[in-house]
Amino acid sequence: NRYTDYFFDDPVFDRAGIDYIPLEKVKSPQNKLAIPPLLIPDFDSELQTRYTIVSQEGETQILPGEKTKTWGYNASLLGTTIILERGKNYSVTLKNELPELTTYHWHGLNVSGPETDGGPHAPVYPKGTQEIEFTVDQPASTAWLHPHPCPNTAEQVWKGLAAMVIIKDDQESKLPFPREYGVDDIPIVLQDRSYHDNQLDYHKDYNVDGTLGNIPLINGTVNAYFDVTTQQVRLRLLNGANRREFRLHFSKELPFTQIASDGGILPEPILFTHLMLTAGERAEIIADFKGRSAGEEIILYSDDSPLVAFKVGDFKENDWYMPEKLIEIQRLQATDSTVIEETVMSGMRDFVKIDDQIFDMKRIDKQQTMGETQIWDVSNINPADKGMIHPFHIHGTQFQVLSRNGRPPYPNELGWKDTIGVNAQETVRIAVRFDVPGVFMYHCHILEHEDTGMMAQIEVIDVKEKR
Ligand code: C2O
Ligand code: CU
Repeated sequence: NRYTDYFFDDPVFDRAGIDYIPLEKVKSPQNKLAIPPLLIPDFDSELQTRYTIVSQEGETQILPGEKTKTWGYNASLLGTTIILERGKNYSVTLKNELPELTTYHWHGLNVSGPETDGGPHAPVYPKGTQEIEFTVDQPASTAWLHPHPCPNTAEQVWKGLAAMVIIKDDQESKLPFPREYGVDDIPIVLQDRSYHDNQLDYHKDYNVDGTLGNIPLINGTVNAYFDVTTQQVRLRLLNGANRREFRLHFSKELPFTQIASDGGILPEPILFTHLMLTAGERAEIIADFKGRSAGEEIILYSDDSPLVAFKVGDFKENDWYMPEKLIEIQRLQATDSTVIEETVMSGMRDFVKIDDQIFDMKRIDKQQTMGETQIWDVSNINPADKGMIHPFHIHGTQFQVLSRNGRPPYPNELGWKDTIGVNAQETVRIAVRFDVPGVFMYHCHILEHEDTGMMAQIEVIDVKEKR
């Protein structure tokens, strides 16, 4: 089965909004796609690893001419990629060298809240440090680290803070996928920015419905190209934009295969030519350049804006094929007594709310017992003609999608998810179980909506501990 269009229905794509800014083609020379280096552990053994993550100010050559002032994690922009292995214990020192407080949120990691998870309750002050510790107990996947101070998440991400996190395990490592980092296993952080004399000006570009930029920035590179040296290339796509949905497709209708969603490998690969990712979502795809000749350029686009040019080199052709089944995923079981919770995202502009309330750090909005499966009906009650897609995200867990407006989920939604686009006038039914305790956020991942208050919190209770 090969799908040839986006699964989402028009016309609620964000380009429908009155203040939509399309991506432009940059008139500067091509730049080699930046590949963030891997974060080097301070200490590493079979069972334990120590990392230090520093959020810092810096300068980055993004456009020709003056460098841009940017923020990053152990880097001037974005961050070094953090590798985690399932079963291992991590001690992480978080250091803040920024002029303001920040937090370190592990988007996609099942770690306890709120301190380790790094939501708004876990500030690290300027010149401050914080120690956290967790054991990774979840499938191989692509997650990310980003700031989450309320209400400055959007601005801090805009300035550059975002790092990719790659979780490895021995199930994924048995699958015939490319996994040589930077060679055939490539991080692709999708963002957009506007520049004013080569500098960012968040307040000038600010949009309460999500700040958009006219320039696509891939791993911090404008007008990027990548030298293809192997027949198959695995792309770890992360929509790290404040608001923009990326509608991805290759030139020449090159098909590609999605192998993983937010929380890990999919049960079956999905072959298609178009993929939409909303803010915060990840997808791992494999592009197969078989039959393409050296010198050819295959362009990855969002709508009709080029993002990365893949320059086909001289690779040895192989007879690799994609397995039909990838991984077994146990479906979360609902019973007659399963609690059905409703969560409603409403409003736009200054009026965004969850369940008719704006975020209050001192209010717990829901409670759930650790280990219990609940069904959440997550609705977006924006009007169908001029609403937005709100990407709904829950901290501290991966959920399963059961239905969209009563219909089956999209074919690439049968694996684990932590962020899901909810269309206007749509209810997405998900099965949610937490395996770690604490207070966690759930919110719209349009960062300006989150900062404006389209966020709520759940307390996950470990019953054994309470006794
Ligand atoms: Cu990606 Cu609450 O965050
Ligand atoms: Cu929203």
